[in-house]
Amino acid sequence: MGISEKPIGIFDSGIGGLTVLGQIMRLLPNENLIYLGDEARVPYGSKSPSTVIKYSIENTDFLIKKGIKLLVVACNTASALSLSVLREKFDIPIIGVIEPGVRKALEVSKNLKIGVIGTEATTKSDAYVKEIIKNKLSAKVFQKACPLFVPLVEEGWIEEEVTYKIAEIYLSELREKEIDTLILGCTHYPLLKGVIQKTIGSNVYLVDSAIETAGEVRRILEMERMMRNSDRERYVKFFVTDNPEKFSIMGKRFLGEKITNVEKIDLK
Ligand code: DGL
Repeated sequence: MGISEKPIGIFDSGIGGLTVLGQIMRLLPNENLIYLGDEARVPYGSKSPSTVIKYSIENTDFLIKKGIKLLVVACNTASALSLSVLREKFDIPIIGVIEPGVRKALEVSKNLKIGVIGTEATTKSDAYVKEIIKNKLSAKVFQKACPLFVPLVEEGWIEEEVTYKIAEIYLSELREKEIDTLILGCTHYPLLKGVIQKTIGSNVYLVDSAIETAGEVRRILEMERMMRNSDRERYVKFFVTDNPEKFSIMGKRFLGEKITNVEKIDLK
């Protein structure tokens, strides 16, 4: 089998990464895809760096054994804490969600006041701040952890009054900083785009890391001449470490289409 025929591997702490998978599926309709959702150990956003790194290595090991040609770390928390370790340890192209999101933010921001929202672990790591400043020293970055957004999305409380109230509490201080760009630095936040946009104001550009990451995957595949060009239909397979039924049901909301083909696996 030629390298282009091999699948792209994508992992996340659970179902959130399906927002990234969905964008990759749309942009690259010919690519074979394998998704791993670590449902047994979710959430990563409240865990310590060493734990998230350990989980990320185990997830990558599993996908590499499946013969992937490229890895996408769809989870923002895992990208923030473990991307450099993974790149050092594994010998395939590895794409995280932070670099593509930052590139887009720097492209669209005019006043270079950029907001970043994410999990506790992501904001604490300063990974977004470091990446932005590395590329644009004069940029000002304002971060805010929004831990309640993840359970709200998983509960399906997208347009509820309580969601608007919580968004107001989290986002009001970023609004006061007069940011013109806000990076949605968590897999779940694209589902809250409407609420976030209304709360932060229509003049603030929302960067959807999932869309930017899919674009980056295409760029790398083209550059490395690894695009699949077979006439046979592509496959999309799902692996989870727990709760395949729950994953299928909840995942539909994240992916926008029905999920079949979910297999429970044990990483040990
Ligand atoms: N996937 C995580 C992220 O993007 C959110 C859920 C979690 O905390 O594991 O940061």
